[in-house]
Amino acid sequence: MFEKVMVEASEKLDFVDNSFEPQLRIADQRFGDFQANGVLPFAKRKGLNPREVAQSLVAMIPQSDSWETSIAGPGFINFKLAPDFLLNWLLKLGDSETAKRLLLCDSPKKITLDYSGPNTAKQMHVGHIRSTIIGESIARLLELQGHAVTRDNHLGDWGTQFGILLYAIKRSNVSLDQLGNEPVAELEDLYRKGNTWVRENEQAMDEARSELVKLQNGDSENQILWQKIRDLSLHSFEKVYELLGVRFDYSHGESFYRDQVDNIYTSLQENKICVEDQGALVVFHPEHKRFAKQPFIIRKSDGASNYATTDLATIAFRTNEWKSQHIIYVTDGRQRDHFEQLFLTTRKWFELESLEIPVLSHVWFGTILGEDNKAIKTRDGQPVKLMDLLNEAIERSKKIVQEKNPDLSEEEIKRRARIIGLGAVRYADLSQDRTLDYVFSWDKLLALQGNTAPYLQYAVARIHSILRKLHQKSSAVRNAEIAPQTDAEISLARKILFFPLAIEQTTKELKPHTLCVYLYELATEFSSFYNQEKVMVEDQKVQDLRLFLCAKTLIILEIGLNVLGIQILEEM
Ligand code: ARG
Repeated sequence: MFEKVMVEASEKLDFVDNSFEPQLRIADQRFGDFQANGVLPFAKRKGLNPREVAQSLVAMIPQSDSWETSIAGPGFINFKLAPDFLLNWLLKLGDSETAKRLLLCDSPKKITLDYSGPNTAKQMHVGHIRSTIIGESIARLLELQGHAVTRDNHLGDWGTQFGILLYAIKRSNVSLDQLGNEPVAELEDLYRKGNTWVRENEQAMDEARSELVKLQNGDSENQILWQKIRDLSLHSFEKVYELLGVRFDYSHGESFYRDQVDNIYTSLQENKICVEDQGALVVFHPEHKRFAKQPFIIRKSDGASNYATTDLATIAFRTNEWKSQHIIYVTDGRQRDHFEQLFLTTRKWFELESLEIPVLSHVWFGTILGEDNKAIKTRDGQPVKLMDLLNEAIERSKKIVQEKNPDLSEEEIKRRARIIGLGAVRYADLSQDRTLDYVFSWDKLLALQGNTAPYLQYAVARIHSILRKLHQKSSAVRNAEIAPQTDAEISLARKILFFPLAIEQTTKELKPHTLCVYLYELATEFSSFYNQEKVMVEDQKVQDLRLFLCAKTLIILEIGLNVLGIQILEEM
């Protein structure tokens, strides 16, 4: 809205052309609520005095009861919102459903979200947690804005490792129907054994290779074994997904595209995108500094397809069959080269095939470190298993819940501990800039103070308790009749108003920590409001306003936490 006001003002001035961009930001509260930063770069480009440009612009902004304008520093234009404007905006926010409607975008897109993607026959370890948690939160963020999101779990369920695994299964003479409680752990052991065998012995290596060829040629015994391995693995992943409230529309995985790889070779060859290089089929990108020399291998020299081939087939499928307009991949930062090469190749390929090119984004993340600053490991040096980590979070939270409320039933303790523990692990992950490594510390992530899930959950519980005390359901809180007046009321109202901006900013960079920062600041603002102002006061209108502010804060916190996949408690 202020964007529009600024542009309209600029149109009235002859010396301002349409290269002027308002560049609206949230202002420092001392100066206003929104700040237009665009005058300085514009004046610099045109050789004008920025302060004079700002003065001319402000003179063209129509007078309004809703805001005051002022100029700060060398030419920043500030808008300070009138309390009535804040009140009207809060009234427009309405209940949770109307608030969500305000967030809907004008042109919803078909988006495929590719996340989690564990490898079958292996247990999900802590490295997969980030993809699952960040991916799920991005899916929710986009759905909140009205996009049609397809969640696809791109399992690593095809590839050379199956030759070794099949060989090991046969040589050890195990039956997959008789594996114990943790079948995937047993499969992992078998694979390890197989790996030692083939490394020590040339003949074993040949046999493993021939098992793979048999599988790829559709040998029925190997097909059945492979399918069982896939089913067992998926079943064990499901347990983690269920705990985390994550569900996928598809789990196609790499194997889904196995019959399409030949088409990929032919099409890329016909379009002269790939070349033969030392027996392999590869793509170079001469315009790129590194990828001019570093090949993108799409068929290995032994004729086998790989990760790149199936990924090319996957993009073609998602674009042709699902009509995806945007495809988002959530993986570890170590796969940056792969995706950059994949995207470069796809764009050239689709262009030559006159296909609609989807927006392609790689949402990558850093490593989780232990308190020794090295990649997190168990005491005996093994990668930490995701399920163990989540269970430990729940166990530790149980103690916290019990200490606070010793009289709760066992069942209620369990329920709360689950919500607190899982929320804490999730938030620890989401609240860091995803491109950075972060240190995993139980004490920090379970703390009731600071930028943690328990702190936010506590803010929510506190507002519920305030509403309970007044026997009000949050949806039944009366509309305020008077505008925010005191500093604390105004600061809180202002913070609530910025929610749509926080959502917009989070979406722009697909970085959930931006939303976390906002929610944390909102909760802190609420807490200082609550410390400074009594909610239950004589003056009915003031009490209504304050309760109304509580209820609006609650709505925003709940919508925000739900995007992060964090459940709330009404009592804590
Ligand atoms: N299975 C892969 C891994 O464990 C992740 C898959 C990511 N998605 C993709 N389309 N390549 O690293």
